[in-house]
Amino acid sequence: MSREFKGWTILITGASAGLGREFARQWAREAGRLVLVARRLDRLEQVKEDLLSINSTLQVDLLNYDISVPDEMVRLMNWCESNQIHADLLVNNAGLGDYGVYELTDWQKLDQMLMVNIVALSALTRYFLPEMIRRKKGAIANISSIASFVPIPTFAVYAATKAYVTSFSEALSLELEGTGVTVTAICPGPIPTEFGSVAERAGKTKPLASPPWFQITASQAVRESILAIRRGKPCFVPGWIVRCVATLMSGCPTILMRWIGKRFGKFPDKAQSQRNAVRVD
Ligand SMILES: NC(=O)c1ccc[n+]([C@@H]2O[C@H](COP(=O)([O-])OP(=O)(O)OC[C@H]3O[C@@H](n4cnc5c(N)ncnc54)[C@H](OP(=O)(O)O)[C@@H]3O)[C@@H](O)[C@H]2O)c1
Repeated sequence: MSREFKGWTILITGASAGLGREFARQWAREAGRLVLVARRLDRLEQVKEDLLSINSTLQVDLLNYDISVPDEMVRLMNWCESNQIHADLLVNNAGLGDYGVYELTDWQKLDQMLMVNIVALSALTRYFLPEMIRRKKGAIANISSIASFVPIPTFAVYAATKAYVTSFSEALSLELEGTGVTVTAICPGPIPTEFGSVAERAGKTKPLASPPWFQITASQAVRESILAIRRGKPCFVPGWIVRCVATLMSGCPTILMRWIGKRFGKFPDKAQSQRNAVRVD
């Protein structure tokens, strides 16, 4: 099965940058209406201008809500209700990470991560799913990460939030078989976007290093992911090298992962040096 999304209403969270903006661009010719959510309205306006230059008949709605705030989530849903927005395709893309040892995390940032990566994604899925099932037509794409396959020291909460996203999507995908609605967890590896600069703790921690051969562009990741969403695949890793590594990671026994993390990842040493740096400050 490979579906066309001609004329569909597609709601994308985190559409002001990175993968979300790229999803919007690559669907601009096919979609009937794009509903784009993010906090930075000026960035959303630039995206809209770009989309209309690709397809001048496209209907584009910009919703600048902070989806980590429950009241704003309610306002977003109320807006959809009063404007009769029934998303045919929901892309839960907004997300953020936080690099560094857990005990030095800024709780506000952590809270925001849990709300965006887990709560908002679950709430929007709950909000749009019943109508998709009633119409026997729909797709949900949850942007997870390769980090969902193993626990990652100094990136612990992010990896755990993405483990939730992949597990939740896999389970829903089976639950929905035969309803006409598909759920796909997209699990990218490293992609150059604003993600790294948002995740680092300014002047304190840097993103985990990833070699260039392990990175793919946002454009390639989205192009491959769109094919997987069309086919209703439950889980997809864009980029063949990343896919091979993900397969090895997910099949690796926990005891071996712990040994690799200690011996090659040197995570205990890295964590200690972050603590020492703070003491020197
Ligand atoms: N880039 C990677 O290496 C990578 C790898 C694996 C998975 N991912 C996942 O891919 C997804 C997209 O990430 P990206 O790389 O495109 O990151 P990005 O360039 O930082 O974009 C993140 C998007 O999320 C939006 N967002 C963040 N917090 C929000 C909030 N509270 N309310 C509303 N919108 C919010 C941001 O918009 P505003 O700031 O305007 O609100 C932005 O549009 C994320 O779920 C990420 O975890 C990324």
